[in-house]
Amino acid sequence: RKPVTTTRLRAMKSKGEPIAVVTAYDYPSAQLAEAAGADVLLVGDSLGNVVQGRETTLSVTLDHIVYHAEIVSRAVKTPFVVADLPFATYHGGVDATLANVARVMREGGVKAVKLEGGNEILPAVRAAVGAGVPVMGHLGLTPQSVHVIGGYKVQGKQSAAAEKLLDEALRLEEAGAFAIVLELVTDELAAKVTERLSIPTIGIGSGKSCDGQVLVFHDILQYELDPMAKKFVKAYANVGAVVKEAIREYVADVKQRSFPEERHTFHMEEADLQRLYG
Ligand code: KIV
Ligand code: NA
Repeated sequence: RKPVTTTRLRAMKSKGEPIAVVTAYDYPSAQLAEAAGADVLLVGDSLGNVVQGRETTLSVTLDHIVYHAEIVSRAVKTPFVVADLPFATYHGGVDATLANVARVMREGGVKAVKLEGGNEILPAVRAAVGAGVPVMGHLGLTPQSVHVIGGYKVQGKQSAAAEKLLDEALRLEEAGAFAIVLELVTDELAAKVTERLSIPTIGIGSGKSCDGQVLVFHDILQYELDPMAKKFVKAYANVGAVVKEAIREYVADVKQRSFPEERHTFHMEEADLQRLYG
């Protein structure tokens, strides 16, 4: 397969070919997602939740994103790798934003960045696009603003809020965004935005009309001790239970001295053994 590009993603929208996006934070996971056929890998600041074990994404720093982005982008050839700009790294003016974008691109090795928000971030989007950086937008529930929004809840339900979101999506497209994530918006609004935009919409908890879907790696796999039930997540495996059982068996083997076995063990040559112990 040829490496996925923004041109290819737009063509997929025109052809009605769904875009499959999954988050990735480490080397083996990125390689497995590539082997499984994912079109886009997102080094999401959801790593604050699923890797760092935090309640929100606000703990994630630019250094964290650069660290994980470098690993993921080095692991794969085909998927288009996008990294989140984390909390408060694109709100301090165009110069500061560009410096942060440059670090994620140069040191992180990704091909694009994702920014949360609407009208307030249009200058940042224009600056990044102007510098040759593909930008993915993110509207609806924007987790970096959770304390302003007041919780993780469905956005744009009322007509005024829906109209504002559609308008912001159009402005993001105009500013040069190559795609927009729609998080936790109603099926009806996501369908309307998807129809009105020429660039692809990537939904999470936003119904089936989006041009693509994104889910968090750990949610797809239920790779957690106590996976939280989320209405918009479909779990395709119970990796958490598999991992726990495997490690439980290993611990039991160690306690019973039934691991390691002869086949896991190295020996000295007889002559050396004689010389050593006579
Ligand atoms: O950080 C993330 O994983 C995301 C997706 C859920 C869109 O932003
Ligand atoms: Na994110």
